[in-house]
Amino acid sequence: MAESTCCDRHRDQNVKKITGQTLKEMKSSGQKITMLTAYDYTFAKILDEAGVDILLVGDSLGMVALGHEDTLPVTVEDIIHHTRAVARGAKRAMVIADMPFMSYQISDEKAMENAGNIMKLTGAHGVKLEGGERIAGLVKKMTDAGIPVMGHLGLTPQSVHQLGGYGLQASSVKDAKTLIDDALLLEKAGAFSIVLEKVPSELAEIVSARLSIPTIGIGAGARCDGQVLVAQDLLGMFDRFVPKFVKQYANLKNTIEQAVKSFINDVQSGEFPADDHSYSMGPKALEDLKKLIK
Ligand code: KIV
Repeated sequence: MAESTCCDRHRDQNVKKITGQTLKEMKSSGQKITMLTAYDYTFAKILDEAGVDILLVGDSLGMVALGHEDTLPVTVEDIIHHTRAVARGAKRAMVIADMPFMSYQISDEKAMENAGNIMKLTGAHGVKLEGGERIAGLVKKMTDAGIPVMGHLGLTPQSVHQLGGYGLQASSVKDAKTLIDDALLLEKAGAFSIVLEKVPSELAEIVSARLSIPTIGIGAGARCDGQVLVAQDLLGMFDRFVPKFVKQYANLKNTIEQAVKSFINDVQSGEFPADDHSYSMGPKALEDLKKLIK
């Protein structure tokens, strides 16, 4: 395994980290922002080194990494555990932790305590909350306290039972107007960015033009200031369902399956491990050992 050298450590210190200010500048200059989910150190390190701007420890963790039906069972402890691992792998990317279902809905006090713990214990650079007007007051409290907040509008999976599924959101004129108002309220409350999920691209374009903070789209068309996907979706690893808005850039499920099948065959046929993968004590020590145990 490659050892970290003095030079590597020096280089890490010189990495220019992505901040809320960087994202604002990217929006102003028309440079698109990229965000991907990460739930562990190995993935975080690969995505960070590939140049992704934001790593989101999304509560999609519940479905993709923990095997739950939806995102509702995810706990603050789950998010803390996984965000700590992701933060260790991120040298350049901004790390954002999702606030799970019922960690910010009970009271503002409880929400502040949970957000504070996530920030204190993980190394995250901010939190993400779902909702508009309902949470605008809380977003103001958090940002006043120094906690950077990313909003999330449109399809908000924590409300799946209220929404009646994972369908397109804000497609009526009335709902689209409400979403625009919500986005403006979140911006006013101090949010540094807003995720727009599964909304018509025309609406996302209007919202992106109205806001001075960047929008990050998922199923919201090309006119957002950035794009986010679940990493396992884009890599073709998660096939329980593949939404229309996902582009698969690889089929790692096949690649992994093939590699694992080859491993099984090699072990069963005796081809693995070969001498190259084994350690020897040397003929003399072996002879002595055999004498000793005779
Ligand atoms: O939980 C998540 O992964 C998300 C993204 C899909 C935006 O919220």
